Amino acid sequence: MAREQVNRIIQLLADGHFYSGEWLGEQLGVSRTSVSNYIKQAQQLGLDIHSVKGKGYKMAHAIELLDVAKLQQQSGQDEIVVFSVIDSTNQYLMDRLDQLSSGAACLAECQTAGRGRRGRKWVSPFGSHLYLSMFWQLEQGIEAAMGLSLAAGIATVNALTALGITGAKLKWPNDIYVNNKKLAGILVEMSAQAAGPCQLVIGLGLNINMPAQMATEIDQPWFDLKQIGAQDISRNTLAAHILTALRVTLELYQQHGFKPFLARWQELDAFINQPVNLIMGPKTISGIARGVDQQGALLVEQHGIIKPFIGGEISLRLAT
Ligand code: ATP
Ligand code: BTN
Repeated sequence: MAREQVNRIIQLLADGHFYSGEWLGEQLGVSRTSVSNYIKQAQQLGLDIHSVKGKGYKMAHAIELLDVAKLQQQSGQDEIVVFSVIDSTNQYLMDRLDQLSSGAACLAECQTAGRGRRGRKWVSPFGSHLYLSMFWQLEQGIEAAMGLSLAAGIATVNALTALGITGAKLKWPNDIYVNNKKLAGILVEMSAQAAGPCQLVIGLGLNINMPAQMATEIDQPWFDLKQIGAQDISRNTLAAHILTALRVTLELYQQHGFKPFLARWQELDAFINQPVNLIMGPKTISGIARGVDQQGALLVEQHGIIKPFIGGEISLRLAT
């Protein structure tokens, strides 16, 4: 009940105008004290809501809330669910693998337990960014899934480019960078038997307009679309473009693997021909990044010999 009231207040404030506590209370049929409590709960979700004496409450900037009908219409995809608050959109799909068909998607305004690789936290404030996940069943099995996070990164950059947002680069295996700062991350999770099809969830977090109070929680340089003046992009249009690009990409990947994406990767590779360190637990390997191979394995040159590297435990860093 309280969650519904908080959602209702967020919807009322979403246009970025001032509304008095009294008026908000009337709309919800609750007291001004309750309104003030709901506002606090909305702020805890990462929303930047100001209160000014005599004027009422106002969001720091207007937000376009996600709208399932718009997403379905613009992406041509029916199996989409949108949550206001969820633990993790990846987790939602991972919990329902046997009920989903390829292309099914889950989006949320806010994640309370958004995650990156190896259980790291993905900072997911309400209404500011995109958090979306898509389910896919890959008939070829787990071995064939190796280059999938790279292909998903290409799909995302292609969707951004189609909307006029340029300059995004890819860092192997799962990050999207602008100006050497992290704009977006991709997390591919899977459930697979040694043989047979593999069920995948591909999750994307992409920053649009980072609230100041959340930025302090990120322990590396980050980027958002606001830094290139693109914060007013329609979140529904951007999400729909990404969903479409992901679906088209996954279909192509299913048929031909990573090979058709190789040339585009080389164009978008953030670290190509640069000195890098590969961190693998306690071990670090230094060399020159030479792109990726036809499976999506990272190629690193050491002493004139180029070797492929693959695996979820590898972190790639520029050598400084
Ligand atoms: P790796 O190279 O191993 O992938 P990584 O630092 O990018 O290293 P990930 O697990 O891919 O690690 O991503 C999680 C990290 O991303 C967090 O530890 C944090 O530093 C950063 N991060 C968390 N939330 C955001 C966000 N909204 N925007 C940008 N970066 C974020
Ligand atoms: C990374 O950089 O390690 C990947 C970050 C992936 C974050 C997205 S947000 C939507 C989906 N749900 C999650 O819990 N994580 C992914």
